[in-house]
Amino acid sequence: MNRYNVAIVGATGAVGEELARVLEDLDFPVGELLPLASSRSAGGQIEFKGKMIRVEELTESVFEGRDIDIAFFSAGGSISEKYAKYAVEAGAVVIDNTSHFRMDPNVPLVVPEVNPEDISLWRETGIIANPNCSTIQMVQLLKPLHDLYGIKRVDVSTYQAASGAGKEGMEELVKEMQAFFAFKLDEYKPEAFAHQIALNVIPHIDVPQPNGYTKEEMKMILETNKIMHSDFAISATCVRVPVLRSHSESITITFKEGVDVDVAKVRELFANAENVVLVDDIENKEYPMPITASDTDFTYVGRIRKDLFSDNILHIWGVADQIRVGAATNSIRIAQKWIAQEI
Ligand code: A2P
Repeated sequence: MNRYNVAIVGATGAVGEELARVLEDLDFPVGELLPLASSRSAGGQIEFKGKMIRVEELTESVFEGRDIDIAFFSAGGSISEKYAKYAVEAGAVVIDNTSHFRMDPNVPLVVPEVNPEDISLWRETGIIANPNCSTIQMVQLLKPLHDLYGIKRVDVSTYQAASGAGKEGMEELVKEMQAFFAFKLDEYKPEAFAHQIALNVIPHIDVPQPNGYTKEEMKMILETNKIMHSDFAISATCVRVPVLRSHSESITITFKEGVDVDVAKVRELFANAENVVLVDDIENKEYPMPITASDTDFTYVGRIRKDLFSDNILHIWGVADQIRVGAATNSIRIAQKWIAQEI
């Protein structure tokens, strides 16, 4: 069996650490692993397959002569902007987790369950973009519905976990909860989020845009149509909630005129969709929740209902571990497909 040398840029971050775990869990054929981070954590170690591996500093020349086949980037958009080209020049395919290259028409934006065929475009730039975490779990559910009925419009509200803002976000939620129990919450100054996240919800993720939406909302809108090669209308409202891990989404789908949604058929569709798990029995208190999805590689769907007023409208509730399904696992599934297509 062929083995592939793999670099992880941002190896000490929330997604970077998960990448190493998922490589192990999915038994990815790793030859050498090169963990890279900033000078702050260079010299430290990460554990991979029972061995401790030294973290090196990301520099312009670090990829030279290392024979890296696949470089996963997960250290922020500005780092990808600056350093991805050095990995490509050294002969690696870059699988980028940041938003930097996603809307570049020459860069494929891939969710393997939805548009694996787009991977072949990687030769244009040497880069494959991993979509936004909230987008990935949504398109996994929209794709089979679009194939069945044809989507006219999607309205989504998200309930996004603190870890979507990296380790810093997770730590802020924990520290605020500790401050709350010590009766000191009013002394705590939020840094990762615009407001206190403990015991609160914040309808503001990423930078506000001139059109009144946030950048996170625009990512969901623009990336969805790029991945699905579609042009349906979408509105998104992205909300941060005091959950450590896994994003939830309430999704309303309007199908083309004349469609009469058959809920039994939709359930059957989801029961057979790749990497999707149907959990839909409210009588028995069964529906997806962040605690259902965390630390798994599946997108869960439930609360499937036909609209009470329009036959062509469906409401669903989807949950996935955004660090795995929305980042690390999707990237590694891209790498698996890339190997299958290219090698
Ligand atoms: P470091 O630990 O050295 O700061 P998270 O998304 O959880 O905040 O993680 C961000 C990741 O990106 C970390 O691994 C972090 O490394 C890495 N990173 C941040 N800035 C740089 C940089 N200038 N060069 C390389 N890696 C960086």
